[in-house]
Amino acid sequence: MFVRNAWYCAGWNYEVTQGRDNLVAREIAGERVVLYRKPSGEIVALEDRCPHRQAALSRGRKEGDSLRCMYHGMKFAADGACTEIPGQSVIPERACVRAFPVVEKDDWIWVWMGDAAKADPKLICFAVGPSHPDWVIRTSKMRVNCNYRLEIANLADLSHLAWVHENTVGGSRKYPEAKPQHTLTPRGMNSFFWVRQVPPTAAVAHLFAEGTLFDLRFEIQMTVPCNWIMHFTIYTAGTATEGDSNGQLVADTYTCQAVTPRDADSVDYYYSWGASRATEFPGLSDMLRDTLNIAFREDADVLEAQHIRVKERPHLKTIDIALDAGPGKMLWVLDKLLKEEGEPRTVAA
Ligand code: FES
Ligand SMILES: [Fe+2]
Repeated sequence: MFVRNAWYCAGWNYEVTQGRDNLVAREIAGERVVLYRKPSGEIVALEDRCPHRQAALSRGRKEGDSLRCMYHGMKFAADGACTEIPGQSVIPERACVRAFPVVEKDDWIWVWMGDAAKADPKLICFAVGPSHPDWVIRTSKMRVNCNYRLEIANLADLSHLAWVHENTVGGSRKYPEAKPQHTLTPRGMNSFFWVRQVPPTAAVAHLFAEGTLFDLRFEIQMTVPCNWIMHFTIYTAGTATEGDSNGQLVADTYTCQAVTPRDADSVDYYYSWGASRATEFPGLSDMLRDTLNIAFREDADVLEAQHIRVKERPHLKTIDIALDAGPGKMLWVLDKLLKEEGEPRTVAA
């Protein structure tokens, strides 16, 4: 169901603080993980399950670099080795918890869920984080109760902007008319397209004069499990060419999104949006992020209802349409990696 040998986003780095008992519990690809910071600032990711009686270590206590289970007091080092069992001097070999490779990059925390020997930080996707000096990026997160394959299909086909986001970030019938170029990569897909001569979306219409039109440039990098990075640029209509654009720039933005499957039925969605310092004006990036909070609730309403129906009839023969090209390619990459690891694919989507 889940690719093991992959970096999964475990959240924004500011969510794991130096607070005395700040232990952050996550479910990532069917595993329970507890995150905390050592006094040095380095993040630790351990299995959130005590090997004694399966108490949640995330209900435990930080002690220096270590974590103590607050049920019977067993203590674990940052590498998962047990260093103390109250009431006995011998520590059995099996008294340890799994430690996951963990990296902070672009203000996200990344956890490797597979073979630690294969945890290459170079496989972490490109992103523009809120601490990037050239961009004013605002962050957020959301829980969605659907299988992550539905999120992949949603993000790999932006034609739904016409319908799902009619009142926020979309609304134009030109989105389903766009012809994205999808290029496969070893662990995902890049997509590129323009949507031309469109009015401002409902969320920003109040900022522009009646009749204003824009050309929109979409450049997207998608990687497994479901990381989606978009360089989205807005030009005054008719001023930008097909190539590297030389048009009249209205806004230059990045939105970085990581959808982390928790289990078969839910995901944690960590996302951001913001403008370049060159095109930011006070409040723009805040407004972009606030708009995404509303828009992703629109997606969640669709996907959660869809998820219930797919679970009811997982083998129903559904029809395919031309707009499925992007989702089909991205899910093909995911299924290829699942097959390589000997994992069964999920039925949903
Ligand atoms: S359950 Fe953790 S020490 Fe007993
Ligand atoms: Fe959407």
